[in-house]
Amino acid sequence: MSRILFVLGTRPEAIKLCPLIKRLGSQPDDFEVRVCVTAQHRDMLDPVLEAFGVRPDFDLDLMQPGQTLCGITARILGGIETVLNSERPHLVVVQGDTNTTFAAALGAFYRGVPVAHVEAGLRTGDLRQPFPEEMNRVLTSRIAEYHFAPTRGAEAALLQEGVAPERIFVTGNTGIDAVLWVRHALEQGELHAPVWPWLDPARRLVLVTCHRRENFGPGFDRAMRALALVAERPDVQVVYPVHRNPNVLGPAYSQLSGHANIVLLDPLPYVAFVDLMRRCWMIITDSGGIQEEAPSLGKPVLVLREKTERPEAVEAGTVKLVGTDERQIVAEAARLLDDEREYTRMTRVHNPYGDGRACERIAQVLATALRLPPSGG
Ligand code: UD1
Ligand code: UDP
Repeated sequence: MSRILFVLGTRPEAIKLCPLIKRLGSQPDDFEVRVCVTAQHRDMLDPVLEAFGVRPDFDLDLMQPGQTLCGITARILGGIETVLNSERPHLVVVQGDTNTTFAAALGAFYRGVPVAHVEAGLRTGDLRQPFPEEMNRVLTSRIAEYHFAPTRGAEAALLQEGVAPERIFVTGNTGIDAVLWVRHALEQGELHAPVWPWLDPARRLVLVTCHRRENFGPGFDRAMRALALVAERPDVQVVYPVHRNPNVLGPAYSQLSGHANIVLLDPLPYVAFVDLMRRCWMIITDSGGIQEEAPSLGKPVLVLREKTERPEAVEAGTVKLVGTDERQIVAEAARLLDDEREYTRMTRVHNPYGDGRACERIAQVLATALRLPPSGG
């Protein structure tokens, strides 16, 4: 039996790792699962763990208000060492591109523990976009021994960087497992969305999120002005659950609160957010995970970025990069609201990032790869 230590810290890592934690946990003959949360996010992490019924074995509780990249990374490295020493795992599993991902992988490397990287191989090719995530991904790939690539494109990027082909496994993205599971459970009445008192069925819902570091400052302000202009239309309703990062929270509320047609909310629990994605007309976001989820739900996305490490849906035409140019955002939003053909073209349901079976594939690979040789005798 292999002892697997999952390390996660932020909302998207939890959404994408909880289904895998559950999956490996359901194979007790193969895996002994341990979960360590750094709590790089505190408020936005806990509801996800709760929704999936995952109880961490270790909680480093590291988040500080307004934390810096150096500060959180150093604290994770310090915290993870103690857990690695006490647990002595056979494998550490990390996901994605956050500072928890990279710092936990580095800590595992320093302690001689192999690392599996879930959602490996996403690249823009520009180390400053997204910042610092592209660097976190590149460095984590250098450390990892098992690379779970969501797509063939991600596999190709890893091969180009010299990763051995037998170390790469194309599995789909575990985030698609999560979103399809929640959608199914909502449809079956096994999960329930909240009642939305502000929701006006007569108007089309424009769902917004925005939190990337490279957008902080002028880019963010332009995006907020664009949203205010989109919300001038009487036939739409803009809804924006605001990320807790103070660089986002302050500017978002100071620029948009008071606008009669914009609903600003706290970050939503995952099930509630999936429900709004199901209900909305379109999404405007700079989130990575939402770019992956929306095509599965047949929702068009305008992405507030210049570059994306998730080109598949852009190529398929359901996601469009609009950057943070005010006029372009407004024009592209108007197109999706007024041009029926364009809207229909962008709402094709497809799953370039997965089919909902990524966790099953990863479990199969790990069960085979980690099976200890039979003891002698
Ligand atoms: C982090 C990740 C980013 C990911 C995003 C997902 C890094 C460097 N960044 O960015 O890749 O896309 O999470 O949302 O790893 N805060 C709270 N409560 C929370 C979460 C955050 O108050 O639950 C506030 C705190 O003041 C915290 C700040 O937000 O210091 C920044 O959090 P941090 O995790 O460092 O950066 P994010 O912008 O959330
Ligand atoms: N999400 C959520 N509540 C919200 C906004 C987003 O649960 O209020 C989910 C969303 O469905 C996706 C994930 O959070 O699965 C994306 O996280 P985020 O945008 O914070 O990070 P990124 O994916 O950009 O790293």
